Amino acid sequence: MLAALVLGLSACGQPVEDTRPGQPVKTRQTAFKEMLKVFEPMGTMLRTNSYHADRFAALAVELVARRDAPWTHFGADTNYPPTKARPTVWSKSEAFERERQAFFAATDELLVAAQGREAEAARKAYFKVYDLCQSCHREFKEK
Ligand code: HEC
Repeated sequence: MLAALVLGLSACGQPVEDTRPGQPVKTRQTAFKEMLKVFEPMGTMLRTNSYHADRFAALAVELVARRDAPWTHFGADTNYPPTKARPTVWSKSEAFERERQAFFAATDELLVAAQGREAEAARKAYFKVYDLCQSCHREFKEK
């Protein structure tokens, strides 16, 4: 009875716990969310015409500080619920690595642009990074 209830709940989209030692899936998901927490306000500034050079630059520094965190948690045997990663992370690992390198290069450029404190350059560099978040998610992450 209790088991049926629990199964029923999880079928209705209740969160699945990451019960593995070290919680690699949960850890990398949290790391991505931490990146989003600084990346999103940068985009909001640009989209609402409230670019503030110092604040934007501080967020860019924070983004670069957080960008390393997820990747070491994609170990070979870590494709299990509650992951949203697609199997392509492992089956096309070279392409995944290329996307990651492109993302690192673009965030380097974003940091330089942000520190230049010029709105148009910051905008260009921001949306280049944004496109790379999206392109990696299209190929390597479930919606
Ligand atoms: C090289 C590939 C790649 C890049 C670049 C990338 N991501 Fe992701 N992201 C992933 C994968 C794979 C997952 C799924 C992780 C999992 O669930 O195991 C993910 C998950 C996420 C999640 C969901 C976490 C959750 O559990 O809800 C967020 C938020 C996220 N990424 C934000 C970003 C942002 C913002 C950027 C750019 C600043 C970015 N990602 C760049 C591959 C990437």
